[in-house]
Amino acid sequence: MTTVRSTPLSPQEARAIPELAGGWPLIGHLLDFQKDPVSLLSRGWRERGDLFRFRLGPREFVLFTGPEAHDCYFRAPEDQLHAKDVYQFTVPIFGRGVAYDVAPELMAEQVGFLYPALSEAAMRRFVRIMFEETWQFADALGEDGEVDLPHAMNELTVKIASRCLLGEEVRAQLDAGFAEAYHELQNGINTLGFFFPNFPIPAHRSRDRARRKVEDLFSRIMAERRHSGAPADDMMQTLMHARYKDGRALSDNEITGVLLTALFAGQHTSAVLATWTALELQRAPSYLARVRDEVQDVYREAEAMSFESLKSQVTLEHAIRECERLHPPLILLVRKVLKPLHYKDYILSPGTLAMVSPAVSHRLPHLFADPDRFNPDRFAPPASEGKQHHYALISFGGGKHRCIGEHFAYMQLKAIWTVLLDRFDFSLDTEFPEPNYGSWVTGPREPCRVRYRRRPQASIFR
Ligand code: HEM
Repeated sequence: MTTVRSTPLSPQEARAIPELAGGWPLIGHLLDFQKDPVSLLSRGWRERGDLFRFRLGPREFVLFTGPEAHDCYFRAPEDQLHAKDVYQFTVPIFGRGVAYDVAPELMAEQVGFLYPALSEAAMRRFVRIMFEETWQFADALGEDGEVDLPHAMNELTVKIASRCLLGEEVRAQLDAGFAEAYHELQNGINTLGFFFPNFPIPAHRSRDRARRKVEDLFSRIMAERRHSGAPADDMMQTLMHARYKDGRALSDNEITGVLLTALFAGQHTSAVLATWTALELQRAPSYLARVRDEVQDVYREAEAMSFESLKSQVTLEHAIRECERLHPPLILLVRKVLKPLHYKDYILSPGTLAMVSPAVSHRLPHLFADPDRFNPDRFAPPASEGKQHHYALISFGGGKHRCIGEHFAYMQLKAIWTVLLDRFDFSLDTEFPEPNYGSWVTGPREPCRVRYRRRPQASIFR
């Protein structure tokens, strides 16, 4: 059976979409979903296959699982599977007139402005910043101690993102207010806000104050840049030069909104994947030794750390890819069906919420051998399990809304763990942490503290 038919499926011919068993009256599967959405949805795939429906309270959801289903999901045009309605909770954070507040074509134009800021030439500059920030971070750790890993990775990736994406001036203002405002914006993402983004609760009021504060800060920086004419190489500057198709420049509010979109999409997700990478590597000592050997090999030859040297670290890259597979930071992507959507012999009706789950799809045993095992070599030839289908791995989404920052994220994670694994040994005294499904980006359950000790060998860096 394929998704492509010579004649369209009529509603009379369509089969009923299989339903996940075990839902309760009124609430459906809400309780199990809140507890552990991945176990619930994985059961659904095992029992019902690549398309099944379930209810969370009054809302009907349908999950698409596996490459063929992902293909249908990501290819569907925006007027059929719609992201905008689902992401309304981001509007007070990113601001009016940008991203999910505007028509999809306009959002695409705004996101498109970011591409030049992520070009290879830009990445070469960013890599230097990634190393510099990680060196400073490593210096501050001292000889040994204990660190709250998710917090540490959050702090480091905020510094890197603020310098690369927002600019040196914002980086300089981190402790003088920006970090706090960013934190208040992040707290604006909560379950109530998902349904009622403007409900008058303290968290939403702080979020709105923080949004105004960030716009004031960014506007001041842009005014100074325009006044001094000093060149800068970051996303903010790229957006200041950008023009819409009709020749119009972006307003300060729009630039602030697009920058916040990139920051929100890229920072916390990177911090979480960096955390999982360290956790998995410290419990796989033989693979960790290979990562370190590769660092020695690459940097014995290379004169200094660079874009090229980072790119050549495939052993580390496969470890990160494996963490992306086992612990995708975004476990669910959601769209609203606006026009009937056909898949195989099924039709999804308008109003349904359609989902894919990287966390469920990345553990399909017919795609990934022994899927629960950490085995980065699955991405090396001959297995090359990630290449069997372009939608086998979907942590960075697909189709029109596919992530634009995957390369940035990988370079950043590689720079961080190249430096930190060269300097320190890490160990986890507690059990390997379970995922925390209570947060919109799925990191390990906290507290998640690791011990570190400076390695006796002389560092090959600096
Ligand atoms: C590990 C790190 C990251 C992960 C797992 C990730 C994941 C994703 C996913 C799944 C989407 C699609 C969302 C959807 O379809 O609903 C997305 C979109 C996006 N990502 Fe990333 N991302 C990461 C890092 C970054 C970085 C570093 C940046 C910026 C430099 C970035 C910028 C964006 C933007 C702007 C979009 C929206 C694209 C659009 O809707 O057209 N991401 N990301």
